[in-house]
Amino acid sequence: MGDSERIAFLRTEIDRHNHQYYVLDAPTIADADYDRLFRELQALESAHPELLRDDSPTQRVGATPLAEFAAVAHATPMLSLNNAFGDDEVAAFDRRVREGLEIDGDIGYSAEPKFDGLAVGLVYENGRLVRGATRGDGATGEDVTGNLRTLRGIPLHLHGDATAWPARLEVRGEVLMLRRDFERLNARQSDNGEKPFVNPRNAAAGSLRQLDPRVTASRPLRFFAYGVGVAEGVVLPATHSGLLDRLAAWGFPVAAERRRVSGLAGLLGYHAEIGQRRADLPYDIDGVVYKLDELAAQQRLGFVSRAPRFAIAHKFPAEEAITALLDITIQVGRTGALTPVARLAPVFVGGVTVTNATLHNEDEIRRKDVRIGDTVVVRRAGDVIPEVARVQLDRRPEGASEFVMPTVCPVCGSQAVRGADESVVRCSGGLYCPAQRKQALLHFASRRAMDIEGLGDKVVEQLVDNAIVRTPADLYRLGLLALANLERMAEKSANNLLAAIEKSKQTTLPRLIFALGIRNVGESTARDLARHFGSLERILAADDEQLMQVPDVGPIVAQSIRQFCGEPHNREAIAQLRAAGLVWPEGEAARSPGGALTGKVFVLTGTLPTLSRDTASQMIQDVGGKVSASVSKKTDFVVAGAEAGSKLEKARTLGVTVIDEARLLRLLSDAGSGEAESDKAAPGGTGA
Ligand code: IVH
Repeated sequence: MGDSERIAFLRTEIDRHNHQYYVLDAPTIADADYDRLFRELQALESAHPELLRDDSPTQRVGATPLAEFAAVAHATPMLSLNNAFGDDEVAAFDRRVREGLEIDGDIGYSAEPKFDGLAVGLVYENGRLVRGATRGDGATGEDVTGNLRTLRGIPLHLHGDATAWPARLEVRGEVLMLRRDFERLNARQSDNGEKPFVNPRNAAAGSLRQLDPRVTASRPLRFFAYGVGVAEGVVLPATHSGLLDRLAAWGFPVAAERRRVSGLAGLLGYHAEIGQRRADLPYDIDGVVYKLDELAAQQRLGFVSRAPRFAIAHKFPAEEAITALLDITIQVGRTGALTPVARLAPVFVGGVTVTNATLHNEDEIRRKDVRIGDTVVVRRAGDVIPEVARVQLDRRPEGASEFVMPTVCPVCGSQAVRGADESVVRCSGGLYCPAQRKQALLHFASRRAMDIEGLGDKVVEQLVDNAIVRTPADLYRLGLLALANLERMAEKSANNLLAAIEKSKQTTLPRLIFALGIRNVGESTARDLARHFGSLERILAADDEQLMQVPDVGPIVAQSIRQFCGEPHNREAIAQLRAAGLVWPEGEAARSPGGALTGKVFVLTGTLPTLSRDTASQMIQDVGGKVSASVSKKTDFVVAGAEAGSKLEKARTLGVTVIDEARLLRLLSDAGSGEAESDKAAPGGTGA
């Protein structure tokens, strides 16, 4: 055997052993023998650099750390699932599916565990892994290709017959850490004097978001595939369960517990069974997922808002634990809301140690009759904030004391008032209150607002407490000295933070509006305002009537906006931001984030693989395009699906560009540049 054949042989062998170990969970080789094969391959490759390929198993770990992750627009949005908590909600789901499809009998579903990890998408071109990204906000994620390549369970190229590989394939699934690997990692962390991770999910998330892929490579991450986002140049199986089998044949790990079940009884039986086996599974799950098995029927049902109609997550009940309520304190939020928080004797629930739980508001405390000194039941589900569910009255000690809501803000001493129809008590101090100022700054810097990485609560806390920063504009005046003097701030992090602040100066109007933290103005309203008015000045000058012309803006939102804009100190803060060098496109550019697609004329014809006509039209219009019914010379694009007829022919005769759904989605996500669709447009591919 020549060196070249030996190299090919070793690569196949090592890939096979990785697959045996990480995918099939059935290793057939001793570690030492594996290492020997690996080193032999490394040696041969360095003797023959001309034979090196980036999908060789030796090329999983890159050597160069990144400065930051690049943003990636997903070709089809990565959606979330609606949740069902009880059998009746599952029954309602099954009924909706049957009604939607007009079927009387039992429906075939694919049932699978709901992995408690992080969603990622892996793009393969002609069978080779070219990109991997996190879910992000669903429209745009972070490019973590280098890190995902280090997971030995992720194939660098598809397995099986190369002639049957898709031209382009996006496999979606979850990155997680097995419980046993998590235990071992934490033991290692404490041996090295480092902080242990709270739970496998956090450990997985922290490990994947490392700028140095060598760190990720040292963490035991796993991947499980649960769906496909994009598939071009391939005929996929007709069912989701068939699709999962195909993914397994291409070399991807898929849940061994997946199963095709039939009708409501099949769904509930599966939930009960997996619930029983939950503690014995190698990974954490927080429920099971049901997906209509027939892919064509999935398309017929489509999506509502950001979740598919054809799938649902059936969650396990939230975990509960009993502990002592030591005290009740008040937290002041961004809008001044005073939230009572229970301070608890530490208790392990839902995968984390909980020491605080929300009591929501005064009325809830009364309703549950919670007193200081009580023994309480604490509940925590998934990522939701833990709450005090109820009191064990039979264990109430003598002298358990009732909590009295303060009448002044505990942070700034301003009056705390409860609005007429509100359950919330608010501090009236506005930005005079340091607690509100801190929250406002954190919101300003948050990822979907100005996206200033590194400006977390510890830093903001010190900046405000030491009177270094009062308003957002002050952030842009910070220097290295001020930052480097903060506790636990090394010069490198200080420099990184300054760079992040500098970078945030180039922003967009929707981001800036959202960042201002106007009450009742979320991301989606911010975007609508930007689109409607095109400039901040026009928003500042608008009256109620003009504001209410914006989609979804009613009297309450309009009033919040006017109140905010009427405050001289808010106007001053905006002026200061401009003076500090913040820039954002205004006018046409802000009004039509579609940029290149503004005014372009589209004609839809035939049946698209995942989008309904309505959804596709809406998405095109959302970025400023026009949808027309007939093809003419003025048509810019004809989007053709299955069984497209005369319009397609006409497009060809006239020489109009013909695109398919995948191309359309790419055009749309480019046009949206991560801004347009994240919480607005109807979703695309199934991802399920
Ligand atoms: S399908 C169209 N299947 O749950 C929806 N998701 O709430 C596509 N997840 O972000 C998702 N296990 O990260 C699907 N077997 C499974 C899953 C699963 C976990 C996560 C996924 C997604 C979230 C949706």
